[in-house]
Amino acid sequence: MKNNFQFNWDLPITELIKSFDHIKNFNFKVAIIVNSKKQVIGIITSGDLRRIIQDKINLNKKVSDVMNKSPLSINLHDEKLRKILNKIDEHLNIHPQKIDFFLNVNKKKQFINLVNIDNFNSNLRNYKISILGLGKVGLTLLCFLSEKHDIIDGIDINKGHLNNLKKSKINFYEPYVETILKKSIFEKKVEFVETYHPTFNNILIICTGPSLNSILDKTQGIERALKHLYSKIRKNDLIILRSTSPVGLSRKIVTNIQKKTNLICGNDFYFSYSPERAVEGNIINDLKNIPQIVSGYTENCKVKARAFWLNHCDKVITTESLEAAEIIKLTNNTYRDFCFSFSNILGDLCTRYNIDTKKLIDAANNGYPRSNLFYPSPGVGGYCLSKDPYLFADALEESNLSSSLIKLRKFNENMALYPYGLIRQFQNKFCLKRKDISVLIIGLTFKGFPENDDTRL
Ligand SMILES: NC(=O)c1ccc[n+]([C@@H]2O[C@H](COP(=O)([O-])OP(=O)(O)OC[C@H]3O[C@@H](n4cnc5c(N)ncnc54)[C@H](O)[C@@H]3O)[C@@H](O)[C@H]2O)c1
Repeated sequence: MKNNFQFNWDLPITELIKSFDHIKNFNFKVAIIVNSKKQVIGIITSGDLRRIIQDKINLNKKVSDVMNKSPLSINLHDEKLRKILNKIDEHLNIHPQKIDFFLNVNKKKQFINLVNIDNFNSNLRNYKISILGLGKVGLTLLCFLSEKHDIIDGIDINKGHLNNLKKSKINFYEPYVETILKKSIFEKKVEFVETYHPTFNNILIICTGPSLNSILDKTQGIERALKHLYSKIRKNDLIILRSTSPVGLSRKIVTNIQKKTNLICGNDFYFSYSPERAVEGNIINDLKNIPQIVSGYTENCKVKARAFWLNHCDKVITTESLEAAEIIKLTNNTYRDFCFSFSNILGDLCTRYNIDTKKLIDAANNGYPRSNLFYPSPGVGGYCLSKDPYLFADALEESNLSSSLIKLRKFNENMALYPYGLIRQFQNKFCLKRKDISVLIIGLTFKGFPENDDTRL
């Protein structure tokens, strides 16, 4: 038994009352008013009918005289999701009261079924994804998501970069990204825009990073990027912070949104911190294969964000709080930096005893599963390792532990002087002038495997 039925436009209201009476099991009933070609021309709900009776309207009038002539009707089968969401949005702008359902109609405007708006919202594929910040992280994520999602906006403040992206031109090397981007643009799944345009259902993913001249900025440039967006957050939106976050920033962002919008996180909108952990040069594969760390401001937020990631990736690990996810991200990079600094300190020790460090490390690792030492290197850098240990240390505040960690980071930074020292020794040994020495440096990025072109730090 359904709560809705089709009803001819030229019949009187008295007949409609009888039809409503036949449907016993539902409090809420909807008559779809159709013309002689079975096209939808209006609706009357049980609530409308109650008001008609209360207002003592002549019940011999035709239903077409009293029906709601502008119900929200959408051709779910043929219309693109972008158009569907805009249509719901436009309808809500004209009729700001909450909508409970819309009519799914065919090309000829004939009725197919009623779509409950809560069911429509619960499917996260019915959302527009907007990605703020189209660098290595944001753009690769956009490409990755576009393989399964039909409507994505990419937003960046760099107009030149946006114009290039519209022509599928990318300003960095990352396997698969250009090919996927061309396909997504061709299929009209993605659009590149300068500002955030929310629609009916939104998933906003924040992927901005600090600029190179303020790499240790306390809020990593994220607060500045979001300042103008807080008031654009709407009911039902899911916001995912993907950029590396100092510990505590995610919670602060939620507080700011709540203040600006009067919406309650976990009831009206959802917030998750889900950090990017992919390795440059293999981001697309990593996005699919390594687990996504997912946290939420409330349990509801976590459930929603988890469902989103599971639409795209194989494995999700949820954390007990936003801060736990922030610390995991910083831990992964700080631990790695710490391991490199240990190898560099070991290299220093070996040099003092005139020992070949590489041979010593091979011997220490050989057949001994509890040791996995790296070789020393002339500098440990990259966009992440050069800042994340500082963010980790900051979270420890002014303790001794914090300064110990910073010493290890500094040791790695100073390793860049090591090759310079060797060149000076060589110069002195053979009494050479500077102009007599040529130095060939092969490979300027922070690492060689996987291949990448990132020379940022
Ligand atoms: N690069 C990596 O491999 C990697 C890995 C894991 C995590 N992360 C983290 O992810 C974040 C982004 O890293 P990335 O390498 O993509 O940085 P990026 O600098 O390459 O890209 C950031 C993009 O954001 C844009 N942007 C900056 N402010 C903006 C604003 N207000 N509005 C719109 N766009 C804005 C910039 O123009 C740029 O295109 C950082 O927090 C970084 O630490 C990076």
